[in-house]
This record gives sequence, C-alpha cells and structure tokens, in this order.
Amino acid sequence: MNNIIINNKTYKLSDISEETPILWVLRDHLNLTGTKFGCGVGQCGACTVLLDGVAIRSCSTPLSQVMDKKITTIENTQDIEIQKLQQVWRDFDVAQCGYCQPGQIMNASALLKSNKNPSKDEIKSVMQGNICRCGTYNKILKAVSTVAK
Ligand code: FES
Repeated sequence: MNNIIINNKTYKLSDISEETPILWVLRDHLNLTGTKFGCGVGQCGACTVLLDGVAIRSCSTPLSQVMDKKITTIENTQDIEIQKLQQVWRDFDVAQCGYCQPGQIMNASALLKSNKNPSKDEIKSVMQGNICRCGTYNKILKAVSTVAK
C-alpha cells in the first residue's frame, strides 16, 4: 500500500508499481487529467506538477520518489499562486490550443513560491523549459509578470 498526498488529500494506492510515473498515477488511477502527457521523456514540461512546492516532470518521476510528500496539481483550488495565475491567464486570454498551459501555470507557480517578484529575465529563464507549440510565450511572460508585481 502506497500513500500519496495530492492537493492536501491522502490517497491510498494498491496494485500500482512503485516505478509507475506520477503522471500515469494522476491520470489513469486518480482521474486527475489536468496534468498532460507531451513528450514522456522530461523535455517539454506539459506534465509539470509540484513536489513539496518544487516543479518536477511527472512523466519521469516514479511513484517511489513521492511517497508521503506533497504533490500539487493544476486541480488545486486552494493554492494562491495557481489561482492568481489561472485568473490572469483568463484575463489575458493566454491559451490557444491550451494543451501545455497546465504545465506552464504549474511551473510559473513554483517560481512565484520561491520568488515573489521575479524579473522578466528570471521569468524567461525559468519558463524556457516549458514548450508551447502555439507560441504563446509573450502572453505567458505578460501574465506571469502581472502576478509577480
Ligand atoms: Fe513530461 Fe514532456 S510529458 S516533460
């Protein structure tokens, strides 16, 4: 039996290999489908979640590494940074196809938890690992900068 804490709720998991990537635990076992599958090899950022407040790639993080730690996903309705970012994402109509946006927001939320007032260069540096095929980078920068003020 494995305990996993997601969005402040403890789930007891059984019959899941400890080598299963968290992405698939979230999506296939817990029906938390806001976290997206992109490349599957830690390169695109679509699957970003927080582990104890730090952004990680859930496609390449096995269940064995997150036992009894706090995972935060895009579905968290009590996380202040995520809620602020979701609001400004709507205000600026950031998303186009939308597929990468949960990962973008999660990575931005990790940045804002560690640095309340990042510069534009710091935002660009942190966000550059999250790929957007629609090229919404300027809107993402504007949105994160607005929350950072
Ligand atoms: Fe995990 Fe691309 S799906 S980094």
